[in-house]
Formats: sequence, structure tokens, C-alpha cells
Amino acid sequence: MATSARPLAVVTGASSGIGYELARCCAQHGYDLLIAADEGEIEDAAKTLRDLGVNVDAVEADLATTQGVDNLYAALGGRYVNALLANAGRGLGKGFLDQDFEEARRVLDTNITGTIYLIQKIGRDMRARGQGKILITGSIAGFMPGTFQAVYNGTKAFLDSFSFALRNELKDTGVTVTCLMPGATETEFFERADMLDTKVGQSEKADPADVAKLGFEAMINGDGEVIAGWGNKLRAAFASILPASVTAEQHRKMAEPGSANT
Ligand SMILES: NC(=O)c1ccc[n+]([C@@H]2O[C@H](COP(=O)([O-])OP(=O)(O)OC[C@H]3O[C@@H](n4cnc5c(N)ncnc54)[C@H](OP(=O)(O)O)[C@@H]3O)[C@@H](O)[C@H]2O)c1
Repeated sequence: MATSARPLAVVTGASSGIGYELARCCAQHGYDLLIAADEGEIEDAAKTLRDLGVNVDAVEADLATTQGVDNLYAALGGRYVNALLANAGRGLGKGFLDQDFEEARRVLDTNITGTIYLIQKIGRDMRARGQGKILITGSIAGFMPGTFQAVYNGTKAFLDSFSFALRNELKDTGVTVTCLMPGATETEFFERADMLDTKVGQSEKADPADVAKLGFEAMINGDGEVIAGWGNKLRAAFASILPASVTAEQHRKMAEPGSANT
């Protein structure tokens, strides 16, 4: 573990997609990095990020488990965290009754339990020091019932809500909480969620580098939220006024298995 005078950012889910790009933003802005993901690719990400001239430590840990989160926290070795980017997450397509329950539980444990456990551990240190920035990757999915992705959208509704509540609890402490709410983004997410046969899986999506840049800037500014892209801002606005039965039906059209071919 190398130490330096640079600020330190912890980025979870940094082996690919939005998390990798968030880590890149942090490195480009002079943060040393502690990055984490569940599989060995996190070491490849660390090698590439080191080319940006900062110290990068990588931890392979299953952040769906308290042990995995404890391992990541232990890897800090007492270093103070200036920015926590709690981004690791996973989706799961198909109808709820057709999902494997262990896979559904893994979505809950990764997106909710592991995420808030890590935020509590590092957030306590930040509050004690009176300084820190937390970015949570929520989603505009949190605004609408996720037909054929019901558990996932529920986890994002939780995170969107949790983020605003924690932000308010921490006002006047020097710790800010920002919620990044992307819409569909071109990452490994849809393949991992077994949703490549869906309309949303095959649709044109946002560039994860653009999404991450918006999230990073919002975190630095201490904003409460950022919705990535005008189309998604509109979708979020409509979702807040349309009945849930209507948005649930809209979600069906995007996420129903086989909808890519209709
Ligand atoms: N793509 C979208 O359309 C979209 C839209 C809105 C929000 N989001 C959110 O954006 C975040 C990043 O997703 P992405 O789109 O960038 O997908 P991605 O490319 O699949 O990246 C997900 C990252 O999370 C890590 N991860 C998943 N489960 C983990 C676990 N149990 N423990 C540790 N790391 C774990 C993955 O690492 P491993 O490979 O090692 O598991 C990977 O680094 C997620 O929270 C997702 O919900 C995505």
C-alpha cells in the first residue's frame, strides 16, 4: 500500500462500465484510488489506471457480503477517504417468479446491503473528520416499477431515496451525498442481467464515460443528484406524474424477454 499527499477515492464496481470511468475521472483529477470488484478483472483495471500517474490499490471482494465489505475497509489501513463512490451493482432480468431466488438475493445484497454497510463504515469516519464526499450510483429505474426487472428497480428506488435521506442527515457536517441517476448505459450490465433479448438491451445507450463525468462533477460540486441526459430527465419527470400502472406497462415494453424482436 503506497501513501501520498494526494486525496484518496474508494470506487466500488470499478472493473468495468460506469465504475471504471468514475475511477478514471478521480485519477484524472489527482485522486489516489482504492478500487474494488468481485472478480480478477479489477487488477487489469488497476494496471490501466496507474498509467494516469496516481497510486492505485485493488481489492477483489464480494461486496454482497459483510466480510467482503470488511476486507475492502481493512485494505484502507487507516487511511482517510476523501471520496467514496459506491457504484457496484447488478441487474437481473425476467419475471420475478422465473428468477432464481439466490440470484435475486444477490442483487439485493450487492445493491443495498453491501452498499449501505460500506457507506456506514466510511461515512462515520468522514463525519468524525468533518469532511468527505459520497457518490451513490442509483438510477432513474428507481422512479418506475421494473416490470421484468422488479427486484433491481426496487433496489434503485431504495438507493435513490436513501441517498437523499442521508444527505439531509449529514447537512452541516461537511460530508455531502450525491446520487448519480443514469438511464440505460452501454456497459456489461445488460449481458450480466441476461437481458440481451430485450428492447432496452438492444437499444442505443449512453456512453459510460459521459455518465461518469456528470456524476463526478456533481459529487465535486456537492450536488444532491444528477440525472444523466435530457431524455432521462424527461423520463424521470413523466414517471413522477404518470400512474405507476402506466410506467409499469412502459417498462414491460422495454424489458420483457423477447421484446428485442417485436
Ligand atoms: N448500465 C446501465 O444501464 C445502468 C443504468 C443505471 C444505473 N446503473 C448502475 O451503475 C452501476 C454500475 O453498473 P454498470 O452499468 O457499469 O455495469 P457493469 O459494467 O456490469 O459494472 C458493474 C460493476 O459492479 C461490480 N460488482 C457487481 N457485483 C459485485 C459484487 N457482489 N461485489 C463486488 N463488485 C460487484 C462488477 O464487478 P465484477 O464483474 O467483479 O462482479 C463491476 O465492476 C450499477 O450500480 C448499476 O446498477 C447502470
